[in-house]
Amino acid sequence: MIGMDKISDKDFVRFCDFIYQRCGITLNDNKRDLVHSRLAKRLRALGLSSYEDYFDILYNGRDNEQEIVNLLDAISTNVTYFFREDKHFDFLVNTVIPGIEKNNPGGSDRKIRIWSAGCSTGEEPYSLAITFAENMALENWDFRILATDISTNVLSHARKGVYDEERLRNVSDTMLRKYFTRSRDGSRFRVHEKLVSKIKFARLNLMHEFPFKSRFDCIFCRNVMIYFDRSTQGQLVNKFSSFLNPGGYLMIGHSESLTNVEHDLVYVQPSLYRKKG
Ligand SMILES: C[S@@+](CC[C@H](N)C(=O)[O-])C[C@H]1O[C@@H](n2cnc3c(N)ncnc32)[C@H](O)[C@@H]1O
Repeated sequence: MIGMDKISDKDFVRFCDFIYQRCGITLNDNKRDLVHSRLAKRLRALGLSSYEDYFDILYNGRDNEQEIVNLLDAISTNVTYFFREDKHFDFLVNTVIPGIEKNNPGGSDRKIRIWSAGCSTGEEPYSLAITFAENMALENWDFRILATDISTNVLSHARKGVYDEERLRNVSDTMLRKYFTRSRDGSRFRVHEKLVSKIKFARLNLMHEFPFKSRFDCIFCRNVMIYFDRSTQGQLVNKFSSFLNPGGYLMIGHSESLTNVEHDLVYVQPSLYRKKG
């Protein structure tokens, strides 16, 4: 295994095609070193000595879905933290929530549906739940968050809702006390059940059909499309648009943009778009 041969042109192309077809992730020649080192890591973990054996597992293996997830986790980043890119949370507090309340005085059984698409280990959907809980009387609303990711590894972490202090650096002490329980040694924090119960975690590959019956008020797809080429981004944004309520919002990552992507959403501010209506 030591000194694993560099991946051949043929295997590299075959491999990139496979990842693109399965997950929409575009890898090009300047990712070759990264691909080589991450593949070598997976080969080591599985005790394999050739790319052919590994591809055989990926393409034909009984447990290939799990290995595709392991590989994706090795190639892409799952990095996230609470209240990342805080302008989106300010926008929820100052615009989205007042808008929902104004249009639905009293709340009654009005549905509020939020989707965190590419939620990774869960910090984003929990931050969303805290923001709504802090700014609305949620008991008066039918409020739910759907949080999805392609990776079963990150989803199992998300479902546990336990985090190191480092991921919580943007959470105030007051909110820590209100929504988390500290572990005995003080190093970890568990999200309270009242927030967990608002979130449904599910596996979903964004390249597949969306299996939803109803639409969303907000879709957060932040720091996910960065891996996709323009045409894949275009298809995805149009799918998102068709699952937004009129007047609903799409939030993307601050370093992402929809320039040169055809879509029917209205630009509101950097990384934020609204569905007409
Ligand atoms: C960097 S994390 C983003 C987490 C969070 N949205 C944020 O902004 O902090 C990117 C996530 O996108 C997920 N992802 C990548 N390709 C995907 C696909 N085709 N379908 C669903 N999720 C995907 C990865 O598994 C990863 O957890």
